[in-house]
Amino acid sequence: MTYSFLEPYSFNNELQLKNKIVMAPMTTSSSTPEGDVTEEELIYYLVRSSGPGAVITACAYIGSEGQAFPNGMSVAKDSHIDGLKKLAQIIKLQGSKAILQIYHGGRMSQRQFNGGRQPISPSPIRAERKWADTPKELTEAGITILISQFGTAVKRAIEAGFDGVELHGANTYLLQQFFSPHSNRRTDNWGGSIENRLKFPIEVVRHCQSVIQTHADKSFLLGYRFSPEEIETPGIRLDDTYILLDALIGENIDYLHLSVNHYFQPSIVGFREYKKQIPEQIGQYIDNRVPLIGVGAIKTAEDAEKTLRYANLVSLGKQLIIDPKWVQKIEEGKEKSIQTAINLSQPQDYHIPENLWKTITQIPNWFPVKEH
Ligand SMILES: Cc1cc2nc3c(=O)[nH]c(=O)nc-3n(C[C@H](O)[C@H](O)[C@H](O)COP(=O)(O)O)c2cc1C
Repeated sequence: MTYSFLEPYSFNNELQLKNKIVMAPMTTSSSTPEGDVTEEELIYYLVRSSGPGAVITACAYIGSEGQAFPNGMSVAKDSHIDGLKKLAQIIKLQGSKAILQIYHGGRMSQRQFNGGRQPISPSPIRAERKWADTPKELTEAGITILISQFGTAVKRAIEAGFDGVELHGANTYLLQQFFSPHSNRRTDNWGGSIENRLKFPIEVVRHCQSVIQTHADKSFLLGYRFSPEEIETPGIRLDDTYILLDALIGENIDYLHLSVNHYFQPSIVGFREYKKQIPEQIGQYIDNRVPLIGVGAIKTAEDAEKTLRYANLVSLGKQLIIDPKWVQKIEEGKEKSIQTAINLSQPQDYHIPENLWKTITQIPNWFPVKEH
């Protein structure tokens, strides 16, 4: 059986992937407390990077108050470049392309992971989470610093040898907070109208592109991950997202990456009409103007093929944690041997960093698991 996701893929800037499977960015919470890449992370990526055409790393925070998880990976200082170099080398060793995902947690950051510093956000509105702090409203100068921190992070990724950077504009972090009418209630140039709420993500994209133009080869990618909707009211709805996508396409973003739980999913807000699947509607809206990466609960070759009906590439998260050789098994016609659940009695088989293993085994119904 041949599958179209096993065929190579070329981006417009000529970067080539050996196939259309991408490892989704997944935080392992296993870097050092200072944010340096650890050996267990390198092994985890080594084991998983031989199959997919590209690996997008766990999100790395760009600034000292931007960490939303414990033991996150950091790209906030020059001292992190050495570890990131090893990570890029490991990922590229067997022909995969390495993409560093970068983010700032904004109001989703927690004091305990950021030396007691109060989180910052466009407006002093708490995230609707029990643990969330009221963030400090960013000043104009603070906004300028953040834009430049995103650019510096991109420069470090180039120095570390990555093939591209993905801006994490999804999952309610800072880039999304500027676009969201829930977290951005500013009345200056950075808020209010949808055009003003778009300004921060677009300025970040432009600045990162100028860094890339000066310091990287033409084939270096800048992608953008987005969540098409948010559950808060007021909140981002599909029509807002279309405006964001048009703006990003207008800026010549190299690819867009959806963030949803299921590749075939109705709206998460309002009337859940099952005939209107959000990912598919997004794909139709983009209409091949730029490559789209689809995602969410992709477990089988058939799931991946279905996603390619509206997307150009497919990213797999949990399934590549459960079976790091998913791609190779399909290439070799051994689909029946694909693992579909984590065997809790055999942790040594998976090369999953200890903290991630603990989280996976402690959160019920997150990953499919079996006892033996
Ligand atoms: C352990 C774990 C960590 C994650 N960390 C990130 C992250 O750092 N950045 C991100 O954009 N998404 C993150 N996600 C979301 C995944 O990229 C993906 O969108 C989601 O898991 C759905 O795909 P899947 O069903 O194939 O796992 C994470 C998911 C998991 C399971």
